[in-house]
Amino acid sequence: MKPSNRILSGVQPSGDLHLGNYLGALKNFVSLQKEYECFFCVVDLHAITVWQDPKQLANQTREVTAAFIAAGIDPKKNILFAQSQVPQHAQLAWIFNCVTRMGWLNRMTQFKDKAGKDKENVSVGLFSYPTLMAADILIYLATHVPVGEDQKQHLELTRDIAQKFNNDFETNLFPIPKPLIFGEATRVMSLRDGTTKMSKSDASHYSRIMLNDSPDQIVQKIKKAKTDPFPLPANLTEAKQRPEAFNLLSILAALKDQSTSEVVQLYAGKEFSIFKKELADLIVDKIEPIEKEIKKLLNDQAYLDSIMTDGKNKAMAEADSVIEKVYSVIGFLKA
Ligand code: TYM
Repeated sequence: MKPSNRILSGVQPSGDLHLGNYLGALKNFVSLQKEYECFFCVVDLHAITVWQDPKQLANQTREVTAAFIAAGIDPKKNILFAQSQVPQHAQLAWIFNCVTRMGWLNRMTQFKDKAGKDKENVSVGLFSYPTLMAADILIYLATHVPVGEDQKQHLELTRDIAQKFNNDFETNLFPIPKPLIFGEATRVMSLRDGTTKMSKSDASHYSRIMLNDSPDQIVQKIKKAKTDPFPLPANLTEAKQRPEAFNLLSILAALKDQSTSEVVQLYAGKEFSIFKKELADLIVDKIEPIEKEIKKLLNDQAYLDSIMTDGKNKAMAEADSVIEKVYSVIGFLKA
């Protein structure tokens, strides 16, 4: 029987995680684990679409696993694993490369942003990145995919790939997965520029709060966060026209599980200095326990590896049964 309530989501192990990853993804994963059967994947195959230091990559993969658990994901109830340990992802990605049209990939804005002016010199993997993402999701017949706003276009493409595969091969094998993009901070912006996304690749450390920042670093980064010279906005309409203020207000709202409009009302007309102090305290309250737990977990590599081995075995059993069906639908000999 096909699953009706199955989640897959992934996080890249390309350096430590930041507040955007937490509010846009991890925090939501924690709340969804009660209702859904969840597969959470550390996407190391995606990470190598840009250069990763081989001496660091395994530990970065463990760090993301530790962050999942430290944020509140139950490793016994959910399946946590590394993408490269389940080869069926790459197998299905190749098949999807043959289903996906060049024109579809040419429209991907994340590729344009990441490749920039260096389009001729980036890896082919960076271009075909979204077909691997579709394979991550569809190899488990996942029905729902929680992500931040920046992944929306990749999920639309995943839906197109599932649809085209089903049409081309006259099957209903793949579900058309639904994105789950929710919370008050689906797109956390840089602390230095409210019009660009908070991201691991930003050159300025002051642009982002990391999950392993110390309380002092968090306070300093929020103190230095760019704002405008006016008091806090009087209402939501004004807030939306002031990107830096809006970003900080939505971060606070997401952390407090309140709506941004309630938070705007609470601070309307107040000085940024008061607001920033409260925001920094709140971030420290949420992040510090996670940071401590990540450190603790990283000291027990054997435990983390046992979680991932268990996850890999469970994930592989599911992936294997789907790839067998895909082979039969396409007309390949049995694997
Ligand atoms: P990645 O590793 O860049 O980010 C992991 C998750 O964090 C979210 N996120 C944000 N949310 C809000 N504000 C931000 N500034 C912010 N930055 C990142 C991302 O939306 C994501 O949910 N391609 C994916 C990884 C992936 C994946 C998948 C996701 C691979 N396969 C299958 C879902 C399903 C990525 O690069 O995420």
